[in-house]
Amino acid sequence: MIYNFDEIIERENTNSIKWNFNRENFGLEDVLPMWVADMDFAAPQPVIEALINRARHGIFGYSKGTDRYYQAIIEWMHKRHDWQVKREWITFCPGVVPALHWIVKAFAEPGTKVVVQTPVYHPFFRVIKNNYCEVIINPLKMGPEQYLMDLENLEQQLDNRVRLFFLCNPHNPVGRVWQKEELIELGKICLKNKIIIVADEVHSDLICQGYKHVPIAALSEELAQCTIVCTSPSKTFNMAGLQISNIIIPNPDLCRKFRDVLMLNQVGGPNTFAITAMESAYFEGEEWLEQLLVYLEGNLNWLSEFVKREIPDLKLVRPQGTYLGWLDFRCFRLEPLALKSFLLKRAKVALSDGYIFGQGGEGFARINIACPRSLIIEGMERIRNALKNI
Ligand SMILES: Cc1ncc(COP(=O)(O)O)c(C=O)c1O
Repeated sequence: MIYNFDEIIERENTNSIKWNFNRENFGLEDVLPMWVADMDFAAPQPVIEALINRARHGIFGYSKGTDRYYQAIIEWMHKRHDWQVKREWITFCPGVVPALHWIVKAFAEPGTKVVVQTPVYHPFFRVIKNNYCEVIINPLKMGPEQYLMDLENLEQQLDNRVRLFFLCNPHNPVGRVWQKEELIELGKICLKNKIIIVADEVHSDLICQGYKHVPIAALSEELAQCTIVCTSPSKTFNMAGLQISNIIIPNPDLCRKFRDVLMLNQVGGPNTFAITAMESAYFEGEEWLEQLLVYLEGNLNWLSEFVKREIPDLKLVRPQGTYLGWLDFRCFRLEPLALKSFLLKRAKVALSDGYIFGQGGEGFARINIACPRSLIIEGMERIRNALKNI
């Protein structure tokens, strides 16, 4: 089947956070939403049909994954990431962010330190602070061509209160797909200091041409034993609203501890529809994903060329993975709140403000390119026209 990603599907009146709440979110009706990380594309046709069939059954009682549920995940990880996952390593959670919260609860006491590499997905800060732990910031550094981890700075900041390291791979918002050598170096430091690596790999299926996702837990048995991997079909297949994630923990002690916390917090089984959708997506959604990746690459190429040609002072940090572009507005010398206001009120686009991602995000904005190309054109033309009058 050929999918048409150019099709505009109205999302107004679907309870979409992105499309239904401009007034609540921004105090404005007429901004083009290009912020929160979901896509404006329909999920794969087999997923839609599976959900319709499941809905027709009419009974939506308590649910639990069967062998098919685990097989779907195991086969997907093997097929897409060359990673052989065992069934007993997998634990359902209603989302990656809730999982991160319970991971901190399970493995950190109040006062424990957790490392994050900014600019980074902002709920990381919240899940650490809400558990009375301390955020240790190891800012990414800009290398000659791409963002890099600053491992020297990391080592200098470590002490015996650092228990967890949040790895975002691919890294939202800068789009880095961390390479094997970089992960090995990071892994050495974490192993030496007995730090648990929490690998948020929610974007790992969304990899641009020329790059490959490497699950850090697949690199060695030692690394597998100290890593907790957060995965989900929700970004890949645009089903975040179904609330499903799978937390993969090869170390049986860590896995048990995590499950104990879930029990303590009364976390139940998956939503009936989430099970159906995930199984169908992993077993039958690959063809859609391959077409999606080609379309996204086209969007990225368009964006990159437009920025170079029409707004040369603006710089796009081209992502290697994710469907998020990291736009560098620093040349325009606007304070973070002035940039926010400029984008919303003058350009009439709602991007994600760079400063919310922490140190190093000031002066940037994140654009979601997982939408029909015509919307990106509209959004970028609005930005170009507004910048002309700055
Ligand atoms: C790095 C990262 N982790 C987690 C999430 C959200 O995951 P969930 O919706 O499963 O809580 C996002 C969503 O944008 C993300 O970018």
